[in-house]
Amino acid sequence: MTPAAARDPLPVRSVAFLGGMAVPGGWRPPPGLPEVAFSGRSNVGKSSLLNRLVRRGSLARVSNTPGRTREINFFRVDDRFLLVDLPGYGYARQGKAQRALWRPLVEGYLRESPELRGVVQLLDIRRDPTGDDVAMFDLLADIGVPVLVAVTKTDKPGRTDVDRRLKELRAVLSVEQDAIVPVSSRTGAGRDELAQAILALVRQPSWKSQ
Ligand code: GTP
Ligand code: MG
Repeated sequence: MTPAAARDPLPVRSVAFLGGMAVPGGWRPPPGLPEVAFSGRSNVGKSSLLNRLVRRGSLARVSNTPGRTREINFFRVDDRFLLVDLPGYGYARQGKAQRALWRPLVEGYLRESPELRGVVQLLDIRRDPTGDDVAMFDLLADIGVPVLVAVTKTDKPGRTDVDRRLKELRAVLSVEQDAIVPVSSRTGAGRDELAQAILALVRQPSWKSQ
């Protein structure tokens, strides 16, 4: 084992795609393992981050076309926990029918999954949080689920801009400071920190049982 592998907080041996939930209350894998879901605006980089986290190049589908992930996709990591790739929101050209489906699908999943332990909410470092992002934070707060904020695409701006934006976000977001993790799916920066934070969520009992 190389020293780098020895330090990996989340060594992943196998990842299996279990399937997708397409409609509210539709098929989902039987609950049993803890679940952590990835949420955020369309195109913010949810599928890319999930792939980077488990070190699988193209497990979850990544696309330049926003609105690519339409179902709730379930991935099992080492019989340890499930990662859940949620469809993005805020994509103007989403069809009416698709947009009408999004809220009951995602809210239904978040409220009715007994093994859900946390949500990784993604924000693009280059963009101000949108009204949809604020609505999502409100929904997560209403549900009471623990939230990690992954600030994505930190490879894009320069170092000074990254630091300034992180400071701004830390000031406006009402989550614990160490729950805000800067990441880049392109370079892998922040991957281990995020992995560690996700493992901490997975190891906790559900907030519903506390
Ligand atoms: P939906 O499935 O439509 O909700 O999008 P998503 O949030 O899953 O985004 P996805 O992972 O498909 O990525 C969208 C685009 O952003 C792709 O072109 C990615 O290559 C790009 N991207 C994602 N993460 C990063 C990052 O950290 N840095 C850079 N430079 N590009 C990224
Ligand atoms: Mg996606």
